[in-house]
Amino acid sequence: MNALVVYESMFGNTRQLAEAVADALRSSGAATTLAPAAAAPADLTGFDLIVVGAPTHAHSLPRASTRIEATKWASDPAKALHLEPGAAGPGIREWLDRLIALPLPHPAVALFSTRADIPRIFSGDAASAMKKRLRVLGSETDAHAEFLVDLHNRLTHGEEQRIRDWVTHLIPVGGR
Ligand SMILES: Cc1cc2nc3c(=O)[nH]c(=O)nc-3n(C[C@H](O)[C@H](O)[C@H](O)COP(=O)(O)O)c2cc1C
Repeated sequence: MNALVVYESMFGNTRQLAEAVADALRSSGAATTLAPAAAAPADLTGFDLIVVGAPTHAHSLPRASTRIEATKWASDPAKALHLEPGAAGPGIREWLDRLIALPLPHPAVALFSTRADIPRIFSGDAASAMKKRLRVLGSETDAHAEFLVDLHNRLTHGEEQRIRDWVTHLIPVGGR
């Protein structure tokens, strides 16, 4: 199985989960490419499984204005946040837009988001936004999951293990 893991991350949490996904896929024997959205291929030919991860910003996918806001948060020493290389974008939103012009080979797609640990009705979820965009591309997926950060923007306890467990359920989707 050939897998592609694409992610966007401002403060490192979504990257950390994407790395765990790639590690779990490799452990299961899948040839796996891990790429930040800015460096991800727009041609998905040859991949059996695509896993896409993004942080939730303003109830949706990050956009230019929310990335600028994230940069402001990171410049506040009180928040003790480290900004990821490439945090200014382009990110998942722009990567999905790049795919629109291309014929999709319809590989299995699984989505994950990170979001604040508050009731979903207040947080929104980037995975829902990704799902909508994929539907426009003609790709349906029911495989999506949300992972939580605390009020200090750090992954809550156990989320890395939870995403590793989630990945084991994805393997049969793409086959080995
Ligand atoms: C500008 C901005 C807007 C945000 N808006 C939301 C939001 O609407 N809902 C939510 O649950 N989390 C929101 N968050 C928190 C992010 O989801 C959180 O910072 C992210 O999941 C951390 O992942 P990362 O470290 O990979 O960037 C926001 C964060 C930023 C910087």
